Amino acid sequence: MPATVVVGTQWGDEGKGKITDTLSERADVVVRFQGGNNAGHTIVVGDERFVLTLIPSGVLYPQVTPVIANGCVVDPAVLLDEMATLAARGIDPSRLRLSANAHLIMPYHRKLDAVMERYLGRQMIGTTKRGIGPAYMDKFSRFGIRVQDLFDPKIFRQKLETALKDKNRQLVKVYNQLAMDPEPIAEEYLAYGERLHDHVTDTSLLVWEAIRDGKNVVFEGAQATLLDVDHGTYPFVTSSNPTAGGACTGTGIGPGLIDEVLGVAKAYISRVGSGPFPTELDNEIGERMVEIGGEYGTVTGRRRRCGWLDAVALRYAVRVNGLTRIALTKLDVLSHFDTLRVGVAYDSLEKRYSEFPRQQRILYNCQPVYEDLPGWGIDISSVSRYEDLPKEAQRYVEFVEEQAGVPVTTVSVGPSRAATLERG
Ligand code: IMP
Repeated sequence: MPATVVVGTQWGDEGKGKITDTLSERADVVVRFQGGNNAGHTIVVGDERFVLTLIPSGVLYPQVTPVIANGCVVDPAVLLDEMATLAARGIDPSRLRLSANAHLIMPYHRKLDAVMERYLGRQMIGTTKRGIGPAYMDKFSRFGIRVQDLFDPKIFRQKLETALKDKNRQLVKVYNQLAMDPEPIAEEYLAYGERLHDHVTDTSLLVWEAIRDGKNVVFEGAQATLLDVDHGTYPFVTSSNPTAGGACTGTGIGPGLIDEVLGVAKAYISRVGSGPFPTELDNEIGERMVEIGGEYGTVTGRRRRCGWLDAVALRYAVRVNGLTRIALTKLDVLSHFDTLRVGVAYDSLEKRYSEFPRQQRILYNCQPVYEDLPGWGIDISSVSRYEDLPKEAQRYVEFVEEQAGVPVTTVSVGPSRAATLERG
């Protein structure tokens, strides 16, 4: 697995943290390439539960160099807090490396995220309100402030003043808020810079050298394919590229260096926030999925919307990410249902879609076409070999594989590291 990209194939919360953690056991470098502290990765080690929002889950392994690459947006207070929490639990965060080119989430980004959502009213996106969207907006409008600016107080203050002039106009005139004062922000952030100084480096070079030297590198995506700003269900998306191509731009390495792209798919689907969701179950079955699957957001605690697995969306994820294999997670949750459904196409008034439709309107108005499969009705959470799964559970996995057109190589039946079954 020299260079493996791990991406979510749905709307996030597929269990990428656990799968990346499993791969990290043999990794030398684990890289976060997009997003910020809007992500929440839960990893269970023995009796301990770790929730990481920004630091790659590989930090839990002493041989791994965890990297936050240029494609990320970084809230330095959150990062320092996460590092301190890890240190207090005996995990050494000193190996963490942070790209000098990553953009900073500033206090006005968090403020704007909240007021812009309020302004949208019923059309709200349902963001995590961590300032992610406004930070990426500044990156692309070239008002952004980067990690490297923390080490040049004069430039930092200049950039901050320019950005704030624009932000204060928006805050006061459009959103009826108080203006923000640059000086306390400069003092706060320059102090963060001093504390982060030794972690900051050229992470593109670091990752390139690791690949050149034949080391194992894992690229850990946050969010997921259908939340991608280009390929997801826009505008109900995040503001970065969680699809596999984002690993290249978000790290500064070329596509030819990637060996594998592993897609993580939950055995059913969930989504937090607004937006279309063809196989959503707004009924008692969906409610049971939420409760049995513990489908509440790691970062915001919000209840996730749940529904049957959508093979149309999965094929789309295979295509736009160039997936070479799939890890299917939370299969144990389906043990509680007698009949399992998988959406294999969408019916609209005009036609049947077996590929993800070009027009988003279809996603709102279509009827999913389902294939039904028998459930297995017994607890599988302590099964430790794929061959020991009930034949109905194996059939479900094979069906997903047939629909996706790429192999399902890993099946997860519980949160612990042991509950990960490899298929031969
Ligand atoms: P933002 O990333 O905070 O701007 O939120 C944009 C959309 O992405 C909202 O629908 C969020 O609920 C969703 N989102 C962001 N991060 C995650 C995640 O890690 N898992 C699931 N949904 C997410």
